[in-house]
This record gives sequence, C-alpha cells and structure tokens, in this order.
Amino acid sequence: MKKIIIGSDHGGFRLKNEIKEHLRELDYVVEDLGCDTAESCDYPIYAKKVAREVLASDSLGILVCGTGIGMSIAANRFDGIRASHCTDTFSARMTRMHNNSNILCLGERITGTGLALDIVDAWLNAEFMGGKHQKRIDMI
Ligand code: RB5
Repeated sequence: MKKIIIGSDHGGFRLKNEIKEHLRELDYVVEDLGCDTAESCDYPIYAKKVAREVLASDSLGILVCGTGIGMSIAANRFDGIRASHCTDTFSARMTRMHNNSNILCLGERITGTGLALDIVDAWLNAEFMGGKHQKRIDMI
C-alpha cells in the first residue's frame, strides 16, 4: 500500500486538496491530518501532526503552507525528519536520491498547481541511492 500523510494550514489548503485528488488518481492512500477548512490556523500544529505520523508509520509526508518554509522549519525540528522545501523538480528528485527526504514541503502562494503536481511526482518517483549518502545522513 502506498500511503502518504498530508497536511496544510489555510495558506496551503487549496493546493493540498489538489494534491490529494492527484495522489488518489494514482492509487495512493492519502491520510489528511488537517486543516479541514480554509479558515486561518497555525501551520506548526499540522507540521507536528504530519511529522509524528511519518515517523510512527515510516511513511512519506507532504506539507503545504503559503510558502512551504514555515512547514519545513517546524517539521525539521523532529529527529528523523528530513523535510525538503522544493520549488522545482530537480531539487525534488535530488532530495529523495541524496537526502532520503521523507517530507516534501510546498508553497501554494509560490508554486502553481501544474508545477506543484510535477514536483510531487518527481519526489515520489525518485529513489534513495544509499551508500555515501546514507553515511552523510548519519552525520546530521
Ligand atoms: C500564513 O499566512 C503563512 O504565514 C503560512 O502559510 C506559511 O507561509 C508560513 O510559513
């Protein structure tokens, strides 16, 4: 089962729903940990929920806020989380291959839907290379 944990604040609510629809079309099981409306809310709440669930279930997660930056700062406070804020497909691919990224952070106010979905696909379809890259991760 391909499971993705997803979360957003109000600034990422619309893009999160578009990503959910895209992932479900690709047969992923998507677990949405909120927020549930476009009403103003606090991104650290959802970053923490998603980070904890990614660690507990050893899954991948996606976090969306206005810029993607607040979410990445908050998620990266958790030991074992490697949250990557991406605005292009090359970075998305490389951060899985070299950093074994386990959370992708996107900014709805920065990245349009078409590119955001390509970034999601590039990130999900890339594979961690291990070897010297694992050694470097172990050094973090
Ligand atoms: C909310 O206005 C905005 O600050 C938030 O979505 C995010 O961009 C924070 O980093």
